[in-house]
Amino acid sequence: MLIRVFENEVQAGQAAALLIGAQIVRKPDSVIGLATGSSPVTAYLELVRMCQAGVVDWSRVTTFNLDEYVGLAPDHHQSYRAFMMKNLFSKVNIRPEAIHVPNGIAANPAEECLTYERTIRAAGGVDLQLLGLGRNGHIGFNEPDTLFSTLTHVVDLTDDTIDANARFFVKRSDVPKQAISMGVGTIMQARQIIMLVTGTDKARAVSGMVQGMIDPKCQGSILQAHSNVTVLLDRAAATALNR
Ligand code: GLP
Repeated sequence: MLIRVFENEVQAGQAAALLIGAQIVRKPDSVIGLATGSSPVTAYLELVRMCQAGVVDWSRVTTFNLDEYVGLAPDHHQSYRAFMMKNLFSKVNIRPEAIHVPNGIAANPAEECLTYERTIRAAGGVDLQLLGLGRNGHIGFNEPDTLFSTLTHVVDLTDDTIDANARFFVKRSDVPKQAISMGVGTIMQARQIIMLVTGTDKARAVSGMVQGMIDPKCQGSILQAHSNVTVLLDRAAATALNR
């Protein structure tokens, strides 16, 4: 694991954008795995700037998002697809058919999970996966104690995750109780992983991920077993690291 600590979250986000941009420059038909939440917003802003400046061309890129809420239609304003459209996809020259986000309103969610896995494989697998970290150490929506071998699956969200994500909804009861998420088994197949984490409320989870034992209680800790992971932190998220 390469760990880089930046003074603030803007710099950490810009560094993530640089690494993603570099991947696309090197391999224009890259398959990129993307994340939602507040952590990647600066990275997406920077990627949009790089695209609009003509530096990074998304015309041959394929994307797969990590997760989506069950029950939210793609055009629901709180869906992760809508988040991605607003922050990235509508502002770069990606082909609409190259965008993949799990369908939260699939009639058969289990079938949707299988199809998602198959589509990732058919695209050649993920070259670079961007990740954020939940307060409880989750990656994607893989909650504590999920088997590390799990592929894309339907997840029952924990109370802690519902609390953490309630800030994006009018009221807590509006937060969906389930999501479709790439599993840790899916994420670990990505050839390169960029983990972007900022803020003091993540410091404990960062410590568990980087210097704890590999333990399903902290899903991020499995990244220690991946051969190409870069962890980008701001100073606040790094405060519980002791080496
Ligand atoms: C959410 C998402 C994750 C995200 C994480 C951190 O629950 N499912 O993909 O990485 O939590 O979110 P944030 O960046 O808003 O703290």
